Amino acid sequence: MIFELAWRGGATEARLHKRRPGIDDLPWGTLALASYPALHAIEARRIWSNGVFTEYASAAAFSSLTTAMLRCGAPVDLIAASADIVVDELFHVELSSRLTMELGGAAPIEFDLDHIAPITTPGARPLVRAAEIAVTTSCVGEALSVPALARSRALAEEPLVRAVLDRLLADEGPHARLGFWFLEWATEQADAPLTGDERAHLARLAEQTIEVYAPLWRDEACDSCPLPKGLGGHDDAGKRALRDAVENAIASPLARHGITLDAARVAALAS
Ligand SMILES: [Fe+2]
Ligand SMILES: [Fe+2]
Repeated sequence: MIFELAWRGGATEARLHKRRPGIDDLPWGTLALASYPALHAIEARRIWSNGVFTEYASAAAFSSLTTAMLRCGAPVDLIAASADIVVDELFHVELSSRLTMELGGAAPIEFDLDHIAPITTPGARPLVRAAEIAVTTSCVGEALSVPALARSRALAEEPLVRAVLDRLLADEGPHARLGFWFLEWATEQADAPLTGDERAHLARLAEQTIEVYAPLWRDEACDSCPLPKGLGGHDDAGKRALRDAVENAIASPLARHGITLDAARVAALAS
């Protein structure tokens, strides 16, 4: 099944834009596509189509995290932040898909949306299930999206691409912090805080999740897919930033929250 978006308009669109204003102020209609080689524009469409999908998947992940935090009695303001991030991500879907349309339209992505929500360990207690999503979605996934977006922003030349990336980046910081805020509470103040075994389980889960993302910094750039620098791609410096983030933005802060990753495995993953 091909990933496709629907849009209702009217009252629901107005509500979203009241909460997340400014989309119409971006410089839509200014992309100078004719000044790029055709292959660059095609690669940019592929990159941004994939971006739309990852924003949509992030909305599903933070929705699941919100429900999981409600089930384990997490602090209400923390849960509200997670629910609000869902709306951030849906707004990012709108921004990225509008940009994709301006680039010439989406590249097809095959995905069964029934599988969009993250899976947690069956039978684990609610606190652990919430911690699993916090680690995979926020502490790992979002921690890696910040440097990738930042490098794309540094290379972006088109005003519209810059404006969209600025808007995405402005929101991403708290997305990567929320998981750590949850762990702070789960390891200290919850009625029955995470045990040593549970923290070890979360450490292995974090390592597995980093491994899933590793192709982002390991895959060689292919000759037939040019880097559309001005239009939103990133380069070897972006890959280095991702490798650094494995230690600095994931392993070190997780260790400060009592979740200690295997140092040799982290070093191998970041290589
Ligand atoms: Fe996002
Ligand atoms: Fe995000």
